[in-house]
Amino acid sequence: VASAGLTVGIGGTVIEREIAGGAPSTSDAGTGTIVPFYGLHQAGIATTPPSNLLFAAFDVTASQVSDLTELLRTWTAAAARLASNSTLNVDDSDETVGLPPSSLTLTFGFGPGIFNERFGLASRIPPNFGPLPPFKGEQLDVASSGGDLMVQACAEDQMTAFHAVRQLGRLAAGFAKQRWGLAGFGASAAVHHVETPRNLLGFKDGTVNPKPGSDAFDSTVWVGETGDPAWMRGGTYLCARRIRMNLPPWDGLSRADQQVVIGRDKLSGAPLSGGGEFTALDFATLGADGVPAIPLDSHVRLASATFNAGATMLRRSYSYDNGVDTTNGVHDTGMLFLAYVRDINTQFVPIQRQLAASDRMNSFITHIGTATFAIPPGVKYGGWVGQELFE
Ligand code: HEM
Repeated sequence: VASAGLTVGIGGTVIEREIAGGAPSTSDAGTGTIVPFYGLHQAGIATTPPSNLLFAAFDVTASQVSDLTELLRTWTAAAARLASNSTLNVDDSDETVGLPPSSLTLTFGFGPGIFNERFGLASRIPPNFGPLPPFKGEQLDVASSGGDLMVQACAEDQMTAFHAVRQLGRLAAGFAKQRWGLAGFGASAAVHHVETPRNLLGFKDGTVNPKPGSDAFDSTVWVGETGDPAWMRGGTYLCARRIRMNLPPWDGLSRADQQVVIGRDKLSGAPLSGGGEFTALDFATLGADGVPAIPLDSHVRLASATFNAGATMLRRSYSYDNGVDTTNGVHDTGMLFLAYVRDINTQFVPIQRQLAASDRMNSFITHIGTATFAIPPGVKYGGWVGQELFE
């Protein structure tokens, strides 16, 4: 597996596919798969999500820009090595020896704090980039929000994702310190290739996502030729929200009442206006009671491009579970909502404003963490993450 994997990682067949903008094939669907680290875009965005996430946000403790670039060079070399085959990492803690590569992807990003006076990068901040504005109803915990740098590790095997983040954290000693982190879970990439997986509310989640390789995907996600600084071209922006779910009252609703909250059929995922899962939402269709079949305050109506000036996003979220409160048996659980957009202000913010104001789902969820990151483009072979920002 090791030598075959390395050939794929460096040889370029899958890299060529990414550069051509083609849809990911089932080649990224298994535990034995190596997802190339190098490419036009960073992996872990268009890549089909594998079943495990470990998200880590770091604060930079070093004060020199040369320290920051040294860390990024070190992380790049380590990430390329980790992604190429976790079993080759005999010089670290050896915990993944024997594990297959598990489709590991490592995605790096810069938080707003990178552009303050510390590193002389203030003139390079993208014009529409910064922390998210406040939203109605949120109860944010600053300790699990923000961060100067992010690492999103995704893998079919949880051990592989953990190992990668831990090794990157060790290499950061003296340069950066982990601020917050969260482990997430979801369906395997193999399931994603067959059907839309469900979130912890039991509904299919991701139906209206743009398809990787399509024009809609490119114009939703990747920063293009205009508007942003050149160093961001081929990159994207991540809006991360830690959203706690209050599941007991949700469980108390009938399936029909849950469907009214979302605006879709629970089992099939079809809009309440009719058709199949991928039929377009029809907001004019009335139910038997003469009111819109997709209620005015349903999640999909408020989030739809139709009522948000055409705004779309790529949602690549994971569920989390931080254990059970033994006094009442209730899980501290929810979703690490991860949305990739090319413009936070025109894509994420208006939709979240509408949802925060009126979403019927708000009785069951609370936003408790927030972060934004500028994700630079992919790394060319021989280069390092974010190189264009510093040159
Ligand atoms: C725990 C919180 C959330 C849950 C459980 C949830 C669940 C869902 C479900 C089940 C769908 C329908 C299927 C689909 O198209 O994927 C959906 C659609 C969508 N959600 Fe969420 N969502 C959550 C939070 C958010 C947030 C914070 C945003 C953005 C600010 C958002 C934006 C969207 C969008 C854009 C759609 C597609 C709407 C359409 O065009 O039909 N969601 N969500």
